[in-house]
Amino acid sequence: MVCFSSQSQFRVLLVLVYAITIHKGVCSTNVKLSCNEKDRSPLLLFKHSVKDHSNKLSSWSSGEDCCAWKGVLCDNTTGRVTRLDLNQQYLEGEINLSLLQIEFLTYLDLSMNDFTALIHPPLSTAHFNLSYLEYLDLSFNEDLHFNNLQWLSQLPPSLKCLNLSEINLENETNWLQTMAMHHPSLLELRLASCGLVNMSPFVKFVNFTSLLTLDLSGNYFDSELPYWLFNVSSDIFHIDLSFNNLKGRIPKSLLNLRNLESLRLSNNELTGPIPDWLGEHERLQHLVLSENLFNGPFPSTLGNLSSLTELGVSSGFLSGNLTDTIGQLSNLRTLFIGGSLSSVLSEKHFSKLFNLESLVLNSGFSFDIDPKWIPPFQLREVSLKNTNLGPTFPEWLYTQTTLEALDTSFSKLSSINADKFWSFVAKIRAINLSFNAISADLSNVTLESEYAILACNNFRGTLPRISSNVFMINMANNSLSGPISPFLCHKSGKKSALGYLDISINSLSGVIPNCWENWRSLTFLFIGNNRLEGEIPPSIELLNEIIVMDFNKNNLSGEFSLDLSNMKSLVFINLGHNSFSGVVPTKMPESMQVMILRSNQFSSNIPQQLCSLPSLIQLDLSQNKLVGSIPPCVCNVSSMDGERRIRHFRFTFDLFWKGRELGYRDIGLLRNLDLSSNNLSGEIPTELFGLTQLLFLNLSRNHLKGKIPIKIGGMKNLESLDLSNNHLSGTIPRTISNLTFLSYLNLSYNDFSGEIPLGTQLESFDAWSYVGNPKLCGLPLPKNCSNTHQRVGSGANNSQNESLYLGMVGGFVVGLWGVWGSLFINRAWRHKYFLMLNHVADWLYEVIVLKINHFSRVRASAR
Ligand SMILES: *[C@@H]1O[C@H](CO)[C@@H](O)[C@H](O)[C@H]1NC(C)=O
Ligand SMILES: *[C@@H]1O[C@H](CO)[C@@H](O)[C@H](O)[C@H]1NC(C)=O
Ligand SMILES: *[C@@H]1O[C@H](CO)[C@@H](O)[C@H](O)[C@H]1NC(C)=O
Ligand SMILES: *[C@@H]1O[C@H](CO)[C@@H](O)[C@H](O)[C@H]1NC(C)=O
Ligand SMILES: *[C@@H]1O[C@H](CO)[C@@H](O)[C@H](O)[C@H]1NC(C)=O
Ligand SMILES: *[C@@H]1O[C@H](CO)[C@@H](O)[C@H](O)[C@H]1NC(C)=O
Ligand SMILES: *[C@@H]1O[C@H](CO)[C@@H](O)[C@H](O)[C@H]1NC(C)=O
Ligand SMILES: *[C@@H]1O[C@H](CO)[C@@H](O)[C@H](O)[C@H]1NC(C)=O
Ligand SMILES: *[C@@H]1O[C@H](CO)[C@@H](O)[C@H](O)[C@H]1NC(C)=O
Ligand SMILES: *[C@@H]1O[C@H](CO)[C@@H](O)[C@H](O)[C@H]1NC(C)=O
Ligand SMILES: *[C@@H]1O[C@H](CO)[C@@H](O)[C@H](O)[C@H]1NC(C)=O
Repeated sequence: MVCFSSQSQFRVLLVLVYAITIHKGVCSTNVKLSCNEKDRSPLLLFKHSVKDHSNKLSSWSSGEDCCAWKGVLCDNTTGRVTRLDLNQQYLEGEINLSLLQIEFLTYLDLSMNDFTALIHPPLSTAHFNLSYLEYLDLSFNEDLHFNNLQWLSQLPPSLKCLNLSEINLENETNWLQTMAMHHPSLLELRLASCGLVNMSPFVKFVNFTSLLTLDLSGNYFDSELPYWLFNVSSDIFHIDLSFNNLKGRIPKSLLNLRNLESLRLSNNELTGPIPDWLGEHERLQHLVLSENLFNGPFPSTLGNLSSLTELGVSSGFLSGNLTDTIGQLSNLRTLFIGGSLSSVLSEKHFSKLFNLESLVLNSGFSFDIDPKWIPPFQLREVSLKNTNLGPTFPEWLYTQTTLEALDTSFSKLSSINADKFWSFVAKIRAINLSFNAISADLSNVTLESEYAILACNNFRGTLPRISSNVFMINMANNSLSGPISPFLCHKSGKKSALGYLDISINSLSGVIPNCWENWRSLTFLFIGNNRLEGEIPPSIELLNEIIVMDFNKNNLSGEFSLDLSNMKSLVFINLGHNSFSGVVPTKMPESMQVMILRSNQFSSNIPQQLCSLPSLIQLDLSQNKLVGSIPPCVCNVSSMDGERRIRHFRFTFDLFWKGRELGYRDIGLLRNLDLSSNNLSGEIPTELFGLTQLLFLNLSRNHLKGKIPIKIGGMKNLESLDLSNNHLSGTIPRTISNLTFLSYLNLSYNDFSGEIPLGTQLESFDAWSYVGNPKLCGLPLPKNCSNTHQRVGSGANNSQNESLYLGMVGGFVVGLWGVWGSLFINRAWRHKYFLMLNHVADWLYEVIVLKINHFSRVRASAR
């Protein structure tokens, strides 16, 4: 199954919409005249420690009136500097807090830059002499981190808004107390995604009596909702605790916070029923409880929240029907219901949703809707994933003429009205129709959506045409047939934007035409599992943005003499299960990490050039006709050994965000070498057993000679070792019992002698790990060490692990960031928010895991 669903495009759009409407702070001041000397010098001192590569501070020269400098605002009567706003100016270097000597500074915004450190005077030298600072925003300086927040004590108690989001505060356990002690009059506090752990859940009271906004989303809080929160300030109207690990129920004391307008608790582990009394919070405009563990029914009282503009509820444990009172929420713009509800929805559920823009119903709903129904809304995005929408694509969706995203994956669709359908979806930016059973001929269709996921259906005919603005297309696992040349060689006149093409698992045939010059922006190419034949044409060399190329399982042939060394981003190539012959390709870029050439007709030596690929972490040359010996230089592939981490891209930590399991492991430690089933001969270079980072080593079914050296005991990460069917001899060294992660061992059919070593790890292996070595004795073989009886065991079963393919995950991650990169032109959007990251990441995970499964199945079936 190579198909995946992609709710995330959808979400991305959804989130982009949010991102544009970011909450406006209540704290702001304005104004301007000519500069006071007292203010100019602290500004220049500040500039001194800033690295300004983009020359954003060019106006900051000593000659000019500092009130006219970029980002500086002065009071128009006194000429004193009151505001400094250098938000998103690509500034690097250090923030020298001596800036706070500017006496009348009220507003300081240095957010979304690349500052790496904060310099503050020693804590003992008391406070700055200023008393007006009200607004401090250092958020989204990702490389900034503080061991503690003691320096906040140097800021005046007048501080009203503090934003340190995305700054690493993982070692600050006392943040709440520090904050409350020094800054009790805060109105807005944002510490989103700061790595905070402790929320002091049992503290009853915190001195934030004026707090209006509290954003603690994206931290690691794993307690129940803290007592102090419900006692904090009766004026508080905005609480965001989403994306934590909060547990327990929503306590009734939430009702104390009568002025609450926005409550975001999504993506936690909250349990219990969704309280009925939430319906009493009549001022609520945003109620986002999605992705929790709530059980019980969907409370009908939520239909009383007539001010709601956003409602999100999802949990896999909800039961019963979705109340039709939600149809009364006439201000609703966003509705997200997901999980395990399963009622029949009728027009009544939507009757007054005049303002609805985003509709996400991802639960087993059925629809009892008149085909002539005209909905009261015009949606921007709709996701009906996992509903029982089918069998026919519903008529009412055609009335939605402003759609930008449509997700009807997994929704039991099997038929579409082709006349209407394709022109309807042509206007939608992102469509996901995957995992249905839609049967339609695509031969005469032109796809125009930027993101089109049609995978896992019954689409047939030839490949559709695509317009030049299509960016991602996934048609994997359908029944498409015919040649691919009309598709690839069609000239649309405009430069194609296509970055992602997956047409794998179809019945496409013919040669791969020499038309790749049309597709230069491709980064991901999956055309495996088809019936393509002939050589890979030379124009493929023009794909210099490519990251992943998968030609696996076709009938491709010829000597692979292409020069891929200009593909500076290529990390993954799979040529496996074809009929390529001749010399193992060596003209590969230094970026290459995973090379799979298994099951072809390559008949050369193992070329020395492979040893000079510095990033290689996985090399699979098995099932070819390779001859000669294993070049000892294989052991010098720098990434094959050593602890060196391969850093590809700066977003790594985002994907590790919240420690989620995202399928991305430290690829710097993933290693696989498979040279099995060839005609390799000579001795195994003993250096090979010095590759302490290797996880998988398979040299089976060759004519290799030599001994297993004692130093194999140092291969501390080895999980799978297959040396079977060779001519290896000597004793099995005792140190092999040091390999604590070894879960697969096959030494059968060699010429080993002596006693099988004992050891905890080794006890789990059966006789078949050792059979076919007549001179070997001792358990688990039936032959004890004074007897020569021998029994033939069963062949080795392939237990190659899926994690084998995790090596390529890095590649996908890099690539998809490339892919998504275009959506993140605005750096602020990239940060805003984890929500988006998370969904992109989930999506990555789906792609990756499903691809991995696919590859490992291929491997298994090759045995
Ligand atoms: C930081 O928080 C303040 C106050 O809530 C807000 O106005 C501002 O937009 C936030 N900054 C960023 C970069 O999100
Ligand atoms: C000074 O600023 C105040 C308020 O910001 C404004 O009302 C006034 O018109 C300004 N005066 C001048 C001379 O610009
Ligand atoms: C920060 O500014 C002060 C002047 O206010 C100066 O004395 C100090 O050396 C500066 N620190 C650094 C590291 O530049
Ligand atoms: C510091 O504050 C005191 C009074 O609060 C004032 O007299 C003095 O001028 C200030 N010093 C500076 C350097 O601003
Ligand atoms: C937290 O403390 C650990 C151990 O002292 C240190 O390695 C780490 O860098 C600190 N983190 C931050 C963000 O300062
Ligand atoms: C809360 O802050 C106020 C004003 O700063 C102060 O008077 C009061 O004592 C503080 N209360 C507690 C419990 O810390
Ligand atoms: C609120 O704070 C007071 C102390 O000021 C405490 O007695 C009370 O129990 C707190 N309420 C809750 C719900 O924690
Ligand atoms: C709230 O909703 C419930 C059930 O939908 C209803 O019985 C009740 O009258 C409503 N309360 C108000 C104040 O509208
Ligand atoms: C849900 O609605 C159906 C009719 O649509 C009804 O038969 C069923 O009893 C309802 N279930 C609950 C738990 O109310
Ligand atoms: C595609 O269009 C051509 C020419 O208009 C027509 O002959 C053919 O039958 C169409 N094929 C399908 C599958 O609709
Ligand atoms: C095997 O492990 C033992 C201790 O567990 C260690 O002393 C020995 O050096 C190891 N041998 C090798 C070859 O690493």
